[in-house]
Order: sequence, then C-alpha cells, then structure tokens
Amino acid sequence: MEFDDVINARHSVRAYSDKQVDKSLLTELVSEAIKSPSWVNSQPWKVYIATGDTMRRLADQQADLESRDVQSHPDIPVQHRELWEAPQQANMQENSTRRAEWGTEHGVSYPESQRHLYNAPAVAYLTIAKSSPQWSLYDLGNFAETLILAATNKGLGTIPSYSLVKYPELARQALGIPENELLVIGIAIGYPAMSPMNDYRSKRMALDQILTISD
Ligand SMILES: Cc1cc2nc3c(=O)[nH]c(=O)nc-3n(C[C@H](O)[C@H](O)[C@H](O)COP(=O)(O)O)c2cc1C
Repeated sequence: MEFDDVINARHSVRAYSDKQVDKSLLTELVSEAIKSPSWVNSQPWKVYIATGDTMRRLADQQADLESRDVQSHPDIPVQHRELWEAPQQANMQENSTRRAEWGTEHGVSYPESQRHLYNAPAVAYLTIAKSSPQWSLYDLGNFAETLILAATNKGLGTIPSYSLVKYPELARQALGIPENELLVIGIAIGYPAMSPMNDYRSKRMALDQILTISD
C-alpha cells in the first residue's frame, strides 16, 4: 500500500473474523517494528504474542472476570477523567457518547466486544522493564505504532487496548511475562469482521488547536 493509504486506512478494529494470522506474518510485523527509534538505541521493548489455544483461554478467563465485575488493576494506573486537561476531557466525552450512540443505533455493544477480547485471533503484549526511565515508554509507543501500521499495510486490523491488559495476571501467566516487566499495552491483531462495530470512525481536533509553527 502507499504510505498515505496506510495512515488513512488504520482505525481501531473491535470485531475480528475467525481467520487465523500466520505466525510468519506476525513475526514479520515485529521485524518491522524493531526498526523504530529509541533513546540511544536502547530498544527497551519486549513482545509476547498469544494465538490459538492460548488466545481462546485468555478470552474465556477475561469473560469470567468481567462477568464477576472484578475491579481492573492494570500495571499502568488509569487516571480519573476529571483529572485530565479540559480539551482531553471534551475529546473523550465526545468520543464515548458518539460511539455509544453508534452502538445502540447499529445493535452492537462495545463493552460486550471487550469482554471476549474482540474475538481477536492474536494479541501482541508489549512490555518494558519496570526499572525503565519514562523515555522507554515513549520508545514503546513508537514501537507500537510501527507494529500497527505494518499490520495495516498487510491488510490486518488492530486495536491497542487497555481492556487487553486490565487484568495483567492473565497474560503474565499465559505467556510467562516476568514480574520485573511492566505490561504496558496489548494490541489485538487479526482480519476485521464484517460488523458495524468496525464502521465507527473517531474524529480529530482541528489542526489549529494543536499546531504552532513559528518562522
Ligand atoms: C493506550 C490506548 C488504550 C486504548 N484502550 C482502549 C480500550 O480499552 N477500549 C477501546 O475500545 N479502545 C481503546 N483504545 C482505542 C482508542 O479508543 C482509539 O485509538 C481512539 O478512539 C481513536 O480511534 P481510532 O484508533 O479508530 O483512530 C485505546 C487506544 C490506546 C492508544
């Protein structure tokens, strides 16, 4: 794909078909993501990918915890919305409201899709050492976006999602993620299902609200 097309095609996919993603393809995505820049080339990232039976077990375990309303406890704490700056609060409010309305209108439930990890055939869990400086979180963000764009380029859908790491002990146990690593994010990867869930599009702020160019 043309690079501009990749950027424009990427959006969060919250419903996946049953088609599995070849291990060789998953490996290729990671081999592209490791080309991301990092502080003094420190390359702080690690990647653990669940597929097949591991993925199915994780989805069942997540559904069980969700059905019992177990409080989430991600490695990176969630900040209450009221503590965010006003423009970000407004963006989150707009997105949450419009997406919920879209769901009602089209008969799909976003919270429900998360309970089963979006039926994703694969999830890439990204970690850094707990002792890492904050710069490594920046680096891991670079890595994540390169992985996501590489997947889009190959016709795959993705979503980076807090809901995939809200019960971190599940992935830790299933994939042998050591306790001294911070489980930052999970990225679901797979072939998008035909679902109105995947037709919702988020908006962006106007450029003049975020951009300053000084000559
Ligand atoms: C760190 C992070 C965590 C996210 N967690 C969730 C989540 O728990 N549930 C969800 O539906 N989307 C989640 N998303 C997806 C965002 O909602 C999405 O990226 C945003 O609304 C912009 O939409 P787009 O990705 O379709 O462009 C997350 C995205 C990021 C970067």
